[in-house]
Amino acid sequence: MCGIVGYVGKRSAQDVLLDGLEKLEYRGYDSAGVALAQEGGIRVVKSKGRLDVLRQKLAVQALAESSCGIGHTRWATHGEPSDVNSHPHSTPRVSIVHNGIIENYGALKERLAARGYTFESETDTEVLVKLIDSCYHGEPLQALHEALGMVRGSYALAVLFKDFPDTIFAVKKESPLIVGWGEGENFVASDIPALLKYTRDYSVLEEGDLAVVTAQGIRFYNAFGEPVERQRLTADWDQEAAEKGGYPHFMLKEINEQPAAITATVSPRVEDGMPDLRIPELTDERLRSIRTVHLVACGTAMHAGMVGKAAIETLARVPAEVDIASEFRYRDPILNKDDLVIIISQSGETSDTLAALKLAKSRGVPVLAIVNVVGSSIARAADYILYTYAGPEIAVASTKAYVVQMCVLYLFALRLAYARGELEKAETKRLTAELLRAGEVIKPRLDDCEQIKYLASRFVNTQSCFFIGRGFDYALSLEGSLKLKEISYVHSDAYAAGELKHGTISLITDGVPVIALATQKKVYEKTISNAKETKSRGARVILFTTKDAVVPEGVADYIVRLDEYEDLLMPLQLIVPLQLFAYYMAVLRGCDVDKPRNLAKSVTVE
Ligand code: M6R
Repeated sequence: MCGIVGYVGKRSAQDVLLDGLEKLEYRGYDSAGVALAQEGGIRVVKSKGRLDVLRQKLAVQALAESSCGIGHTRWATHGEPSDVNSHPHSTPRVSIVHNGIIENYGALKERLAARGYTFESETDTEVLVKLIDSCYHGEPLQALHEALGMVRGSYALAVLFKDFPDTIFAVKKESPLIVGWGEGENFVASDIPALLKYTRDYSVLEEGDLAVVTAQGIRFYNAFGEPVERQRLTADWDQEAAEKGGYPHFMLKEINEQPAAITATVSPRVEDGMPDLRIPELTDERLRSIRTVHLVACGTAMHAGMVGKAAIETLARVPAEVDIASEFRYRDPILNKDDLVIIISQSGETSDTLAALKLAKSRGVPVLAIVNVVGSSIARAADYILYTYAGPEIAVASTKAYVVQMCVLYLFALRLAYARGELEKAETKRLTAELLRAGEVIKPRLDDCEQIKYLASRFVNTQSCFFIGRGFDYALSLEGSLKLKEISYVHSDAYAAGELKHGTISLITDGVPVIALATQKKVYEKTISNAKETKSRGARVILFTTKDAVVPEGVADYIVRLDEYEDLLMPLQLIVPLQLFAYYMAVLRGCDVDKPRNLAKSVTVE
């Protein structure tokens, strides 16, 4: 949440900052602002609203050129979105942009007020900049060290001091921050896409790190103020990956990138037809000793975990629990040393998920992370990593990351099942081959989306709807429903189909849309009965099932047919029309598809 950028070099800092903020707008879009080091002081321009509002404001200001500055795009935590609450926050000597939360800002504010500081915003960040100012006596490092020593909370900060117009000071605690290496120029950013136009070389700040960034170089200091080196990494994402590439929205582009993402994620992990996790420590012997698997994540990643649980239990007969990270971290979970915790996260920065990981580690339980962003906090804290190769996911609604998270979980379940003797080699190979061709299987779902567009046009004025399904289809109901409400603002609920008559069916009246998912042969007839029960009470039913399934008369108003495929892997195909349905509903309803209201891509606060 919130994106921060910094630039120092030979270009127009304003241009580079605006470029970077555009790439980070997915992290929050309540307001945007920049602070530019200029002769005579720091010039701040900021505004409530999207980045375009800031652009317009800057266009009429005719600012003097500056080659050093910091910028911010905000997801409001303390104080409503407004000009005055926007970042940067400043004193005449210091300007900062902040991602995080200062927990003890109330007490600090009182102390600063007693010393004569006044406050105009409701933010914790204004307190922080004034605290830094109060500690500043010409030595930035000392001021930052002293001020941050008094602070409780999380922060990624970029700081400009008026007296040091060619230097950005960057500090990190519990919120993500990277620095980018250029030629005669250097960068600060919350995330890699902000850098890609200029450089692919970056270093990740570690907990408590402070970086001093000038055009000539970057120096790092650890939490004790000691000079340290930080590894230089190279992003394998290219600039195009972070552009819309002709699509009207990132979400549609990312839905269409799913076949390639599946192949990129699965194929390097297949050896002689067998799943190979390529984690030396996770030998078959080690896999045999696992007692329970705990899958922990938030939102869509948690829904991938539900598919993972079903796959692990079905194939490997190992108990698997799925937990929402924000619940897991506070519920004192029962963990044993021979359990395995699997943490799932696209960004690798989700605050609750990271906290769940740390809790598991503190109990001595090994942690395997399934992560998309290389070098992210979760990737660095885990014992073992399985990267997903989805490339950057920019749309707030997660699509391609979800699909590859499921793929990695299938690979894990297959290897686990084989290692434990639950699956014969031939069957393991057969299922792995089926997984390998998932990209091909879903392509027709992307190519013929006319029916889904039509359905969206029929249901565009819907106020509320229900998704139902059993087993894997229930997990997909949850994800389909989340996608729909997240971007189209249609209220929707997901139910295990058999649960409907335990209360919810009272909400089914004339015309209420019910989206029934029936792709699983084992429970097909049961789900069809449940769909029929809603139809008899007036529901308008859209049934998603397979090509050969026999659908009795009077069950559905509309039928969406999928190709026949392995039941176990059907979620990989079924999710595509559900994503497209949410997408077209949002487009037809005039919603801001890539940046739905109140949301941010990377949830780095609790
Ligand atoms: O980066 P993460 O995968 O940890 O994010 C988890 C959730 O915040 C995320 O999946 C969220 O639910 C999406 N916006 C859903 O589309």
